[in-house]
Amino acid sequence: MGRLIVVSNRVALPRRGEPTAGGLAVALKDVLKSNGGLWFGWSGETTKTPTSGEIKALRYQGIDYATIDLNETDYKGFYAGYSNNILWPLFHFRLGLLEYDRRQSEAYRRVNRDFAKALLPLLGPDDVIWIHDYQLIPLGAELRALGARQKIGFFLHIPFPPWAVFSALPGAEVLMRDLLAYDLVGVQTHRDLGGMVNCFQDGLGLSPDEDGGIRTSIAGTERRTQLSAHAIGIDTRGFANTARKAINGPDAVRMKASMGERKLIVGAERLDYTKGLPHRMRGFGALLDNFPQHLNQVTYLQVAARSRNEVASYRDLRRELDQLAGRINGDHGLFDWTPMRYVARAVARDTLAGFYRMADVGLVTPLRDGMNLVAKEYVAAQDPENPGVLVLSSFAGAAEAMDGALLVNPLDPEAMAEQLDRALTMPLAERKSRWSSMMQGLEEQTAERWAEDFLAELNEQAAAREPSLAA
Ligand code: F6P
Repeated sequence: MGRLIVVSNRVALPRRGEPTAGGLAVALKDVLKSNGGLWFGWSGETTKTPTSGEIKALRYQGIDYATIDLNETDYKGFYAGYSNNILWPLFHFRLGLLEYDRRQSEAYRRVNRDFAKALLPLLGPDDVIWIHDYQLIPLGAELRALGARQKIGFFLHIPFPPWAVFSALPGAEVLMRDLLAYDLVGVQTHRDLGGMVNCFQDGLGLSPDEDGGIRTSIAGTERRTQLSAHAIGIDTRGFANTARKAINGPDAVRMKASMGERKLIVGAERLDYTKGLPHRMRGFGALLDNFPQHLNQVTYLQVAARSRNEVASYRDLRRELDQLAGRINGDHGLFDWTPMRYVARAVARDTLAGFYRMADVGLVTPLRDGMNLVAKEYVAAQDPENPGVLVLSSFAGAAEAMDGALLVNPLDPEAMAEQLDRALTMPLAERKSRWSSMMQGLEEQTAERWAEDFLAELNEQAAAREPSLAA
């Protein structure tokens, strides 16, 4: 039995003083611990010298970590450029923000090749490799090109658009072909699975067989790549416990004292244009305009952790949010009431858990999102005796299964205002029944279960591949 090798661009390295790790990191660590595993990826450090592929190794709580640095050119071309200024807007349906640059496309290939070269010597013949997210799509093909025969799975955490959108990318077919190096490609939702299947059909003329796999023959070798949807979850019990404790912690107590009798709407994410933050602020503005009974009765706290600052569209967004928050407070605020509290910095995870628990409404309105774990964490954090209401974008992957949420189209501020009013005035019995149906789903579909299901399917696929490999 081999080890599990997790590969992601960012590695959740154990560092002192960092905010508690999120659901995904916790789930992967648990699976790595029980399988005996290695987590490989970028160290998060940039160097001035060329990327050397030199490995920094660390062993902590039964998990091996192996990371490599990126040099500044590769950081700009691979990470800030191709990954976050080309693939990120493409996969989120934002073609107007995509700034194609052929040199960045080359840097993306080169770094994926460097990752493959650095990783290969660390692999044993029976290891199972699980690669994560859009930064590393070609890694499987690069490993195969170096002779790797291990089971390799890939999971895309972000949405998968249909070919009508995806084909805007120069070299889109090459990226789709890269996916065929994997034994299993997982996406979050059935909607994304539909997008990926459509890309294979319309882009490469390949249709899945009746079990959802694509069969190809590459250099005389028969291959089959299984495609499937695996909705990621959170550590539901763990987060509920964190929230229960945090509600009596000093931050939650201070927050509560500052609110008086007012209700609280909360939103928290990375400061990213996919999250629909300006739309959300406009929706809150529309609530105050159209439902004046809420004036001075509600506060909206928006945490927006700054992110990818080297990409111009993120800096533009920051300016827009600063203006919008100022405008809402200028238009509606009183000398003793600030309608909107806007924090453009990261807030510790357990502090957030306490804020979620005390909030009457969780407002999660991305324009597109693979899943959205904040929606799940908000629900997990609630007090079962007095739960809040989740107002959720129908464009979040989470909307596929969270039937107790009030769904909104984030592009419609008036509709958002109506749903906010409904949430703020919802009777306790309805809040409880909506919450318990969502909580039941979260208890079943945890992050741990997601990882186990994906790996079980990967093992099945790879086992099915053995006879043809042996032939
Ligand atoms: O889930 C999407 C994702 O891009 C991850 O791949 C990534 O680690 C995370 O969001 C944060 O983004 P970044 O690593 O660019 O800060």
